[in-house]
This record gives sequence, structure tokens and C-alpha cells, in this order.
Amino acid sequence: MFGSLEMAPPDAILGLNVAFRNDTNPSKINLGVGVYKDETGNTPVLACVKKAEQLLLEKENSKSYLGIDGLPEYGPLVRKVLFDGTVEEARAVTLQTPGGTGALRVAGDFLKHKVGASRIWLSNPTWANHNGVFSSAGLAVDAYTYLDNTGLALDFQGMLDSIAQIPAGDVICLHACCHNPSGVDPSAEQWEQIAEACKAGGVLPLIDFAYQGFANGLQEDAAAIRLFADKVDEFLVCSSFSKNFGLYCERIGALTIVAQDESAATAALSHAKKAVRTNYSNPPKHGGAVVTTVLGCDDLFTQWDTEVAAMRDRINGLRKLFVDTMAAKNSPVDFSFIQQQRGMFSYSGLNAMQVDQLKNDHSIYIVGSGRINVAGLNSGNVEQLCDAILQVL
Ligand code: LMR
Repeated sequence: MFGSLEMAPPDAILGLNVAFRNDTNPSKINLGVGVYKDETGNTPVLACVKKAEQLLLEKENSKSYLGIDGLPEYGPLVRKVLFDGTVEEARAVTLQTPGGTGALRVAGDFLKHKVGASRIWLSNPTWANHNGVFSSAGLAVDAYTYLDNTGLALDFQGMLDSIAQIPAGDVICLHACCHNPSGVDPSAEQWEQIAEACKAGGVLPLIDFAYQGFANGLQEDAAAIRLFADKVDEFLVCSSFSKNFGLYCERIGALTIVAQDESAATAALSHAKKAVRTNYSNPPKHGGAVVTTVLGCDDLFTQWDTEVAAMRDRINGLRKLFVDTMAAKNSPVDFSFIQQQRGMFSYSGLNAMQVDQLKNDHSIYIVGSGRINVAGLNSGNVEQLCDAILQVL
């Protein structure tokens, strides 16, 4: 039966890691997958994580199964980081999931098979895996307008017009901050209008929150979801600690469901747990134990906040370094927009042919859409990157 299978295409993002590994050019640069790198090109383990792991090593006394929804302390601590008290605790339930992707998939299964939703609307463009995750859950997938014709700025009116067309009962996937892949986020006033539009149209918001702390701060970046908590009765948040805790390979995220009242929230949790049980049964422990240890200790929390700020500041510094370097080289294209964008990613404006040229002629790997992982730059590779971009422009 397997003999008739043809090769599946490589993953648009993770497939680049394989191609990068096989490239023998010693000065190759990987700006594909969204991982933070320090000046030496390493993806470090945060100091607060190391401390938490030391504590866990000393006190952990069992590797028995967790509950289907994870560690009991995890949910309330996650909700504190997300909402800081802006949602009544009784209205919200949280499941510990394997990464943000796990949260998205459980949300997709829950919405399709338990709530009866049939379609989800994704921003155009969106993270390359959203479509696959939600269609694998059985949801139909459609797109709403997000960027304007330049591909570099928000088409806000277009976005509102799109939302107004979405039938009531459909789901809309929004990026809370650091839009992946563009780095273009709505302003606070625009978020107000987006929330109003969802409410007016009876559209259920599912908010993907994978980069808390990478735009303006842990608290500041939660403003959009706190606004939704105030404006709408029901929504979902799929959050991730891959980036802001550097816990990529530990696969730790959360699905938080906010319902109208306590009984609806409790019922929602019971159904979401069924979706988990028939998928991966219950979540792995280690990442959740690390996050719980850090969030539950004032000193470790403060250290975490400081370390997230350092990553954020470094990425913003790299944005400036890139823009300044291109300007100093008299680039025919004005790249100053990169400095306005936030988070790990920016749309470079490079087309698919230019992206291929960067890979084939310069061993520089970026996603086919032209998305650059700014966090992969450093003072040692920026000149090489800018020279190569100037050659393919
Ligand atoms: C990315 O967009 O590069 C990250 O979210 C990693 C992934 O799983 O694609």
C-alpha cells in the first residue's frame, strides 16, 4: 500500500531546516524557522528556566500521568499572564497543550466536533501551518483581508469589510501581536473596532498568541486579548511558551476557553478534554512544570520578564541594524518599514524568485513568502545578508 505513495512536499517552514542542514556552505544563514538566536547564533536556555529545572530535579518524585488538561496549577497561572484578572476566573478554563500548535489543533477539533462550527477565517497572509491544522480538524478554511497591496502594511478597512461578510457562527483566527508572517499589528483603536465587528457579526474569535512579550512587553502585548475579554462573551486563546520561554522542543502551550458563565465554561472544558483524550491522551509534563515553577515564584517571574525584555530589545536592535546597513549600502529599496514591524518576523517584500536566488546562490534560507526571521540576524551575518539581498533585488 505504501509503494504507491508519492513524496509529500517539504514543510514550508520546518522543511527549510533540513535543506539548511544539508547545505555544505560554511557561511550559510538560516532565517527561516522562528527561533530566537543570540549574537553567537545559539538559541539559549533562559536562566530562569535553568533555575526552575534545578528545583524540579530536586523535588520531582513521580513521572505518573498528568490529568487530561495538564498540571492543576498551570491553568490559573497561565490565565494570570494572559488576563491579569480582567476575566472572571469562573468564566475561563485552560488546558495544557503540546505547544501552541497543539492548542490550535485541540481548538479546531473542539470547535468542529463539539461546538458544530464549520468554517474558520484566516488572515491573508497567515502562518503557513494554520490552514493545515484547521483543515485537518475538519474545518473549512477561508481568508480575510489583512495586508494592503504593498504587502507591508495593514489594510484596516479591507479587514473590517471582510469581517462584516463573515457569516454568524463562523470562527475568525486573529494574531494577538507580532503577526506571523508580516510583523504588522493593528493599533489599540483598531483592535477596539475589530472586537466590535466580531461581536456585531456573531463571529467567534480564536486568538493565536505565540509571541507575548516580543512586541512591547508581557503586559502590553496582552492588551488585545484583554480587550476581547471586556467586549465579547465567548472566545478562545491559543498561547505558546515556545518563544518567550525558549522552550521550543519541550512543546508547551495552552488552550484557554472563555465562556459566558461558569456552567458553559465547565461544559466546554469537558468536551475539549475529550478532544485531547482521543488525540494524545494527556500532555507531557516537563515544559508545563518549568513554566508553572517560574510563573508561581515572584523572583523567577521577574527574571523571566527581564530575559524576555532582553530578547525583545535585541530583535528591535537587529531591525535597526538591518535598515541602517541597507541604507548605508544605498539600497534602491527603502527598508525602513522593517523597523515599524514587531516580533520575530518581517515580510521583506522579496518575491519567490528572489527567495530562491538567496538560497541557491548565497545559501541564505528564508521562507518562500519572503518572511525573514529577524531574530536570526547578528552583527556577523548582517553585511552578508544585505549584500546578497542587494544582488537579488
Ligand atoms: C514559525 O512560524 O517559524 C514558528 O512558529 C515555528 C513553526 O512551527 O512553524
